[in-house]
Amino acid sequence: MNHLTFDRHRRLRMTESLRSLVRETHLLKEDLIYPIFVVEGEGVKEEVPSMPGVYHISLDYLTEEMKEVKSLGIRSVMVFGVPDEKDEKGSQAYCEHGIVQKAIRQIKEDVPSLTVIADTCLCQYTSHGHCGIVKDGEVVNDESLELLAETAVSQARAGADIIAPSNMMDGFVAAIRKGLDQAGFENTPIMSYAVKYASSFYGPFRDAAHSTPQFGDRRTYQMDPANRLEAKREAKSDIEEGADFLIIKPALSYLDIIREIREEHPVPLVAYNVSGEYSLVKAAVQNGWVDEKEIVLEKLTAMKRAGADLIITYFAKDVARWLDQ
Ligand code: PBG
Repeated sequence: MNHLTFDRHRRLRMTESLRSLVRETHLLKEDLIYPIFVVEGEGVKEEVPSMPGVYHISLDYLTEEMKEVKSLGIRSVMVFGVPDEKDEKGSQAYCEHGIVQKAIRQIKEDVPSLTVIADTCLCQYTSHGHCGIVKDGEVVNDESLELLAETAVSQARAGADIIAPSNMMDGFVAAIRKGLDQAGFENTPIMSYAVKYASSFYGPFRDAAHSTPQFGDRRTYQMDPANRLEAKREAKSDIEEGADFLIIKPALSYLDIIREIREEHPVPLVAYNVSGEYSLVKAAVQNGWVDEKEIVLEKLTAMKRAGADLIITYFAKDVARWLDQ
């Protein structure tokens, strides 16, 4: 055997302490952003059927929930509103007393140290379920921009620390930046869903947010999963328009895109571990087919290894607990 020459890679794997000494990627609680769904009414805490462990909560449960999140060591939440009323123009999205505006105000008052990120979109608020204004059966770009800017400003006014526009209209970062600046929010950062694919992995979210399009689909504004170069163009536009963070979404089937954008843009990069990615794991766990903790930590570590700095995930509370063990 002595005449064989080869590298002994196993040397560095022999004990857990050696393995941890040479570990290249670390998942931290600070990396986690926890999405929540707030609804009107009182005494509501209802599990979303396709997302076990994810709830619709009314404002009277919100503070308690946020205190728990904070005590687990999570620093940021992303707030989605599920309004009672919808109309053609999504007016509840930019109404001063909209559900999201009320939720943001309450969190900033009761648990001010949490960073509140507001999802800025119209799809939960429009009767047709699209992310912009619809005319003659088409989602029109430029008119939608005004409403999106108005939505962002109303969220900033309510106290949002970061604005996260997810609508995929062209020019949305420019329009929102301008709107925020004019309203005196030049220090409010934009976390742009720069690279958002038209993905089947959003299915359970649309159950949770009641935002399924009533006709057609989102392919005229969200990206074709087959495209890589287009992701670079989208990221470049958003950076030029003033985005402070870039989100890539979904995460797991798009790790190559995360790596690619990481290499091109020196800005904080966020991976969105979306609803379908969550539900698939939960279903397998419920069947006893996989070990939840092991599989979730592996997936999130892979997102960081690919180049993500932050991860938006419905698993955030579980992960924070596991990281403490
Ligand atoms: C709103 C929005 C969606 C998600 C985040 N913001 C749904 C969509 O674009 O249809 C999906 C999040 C998830 O699946 O977890 N536009």
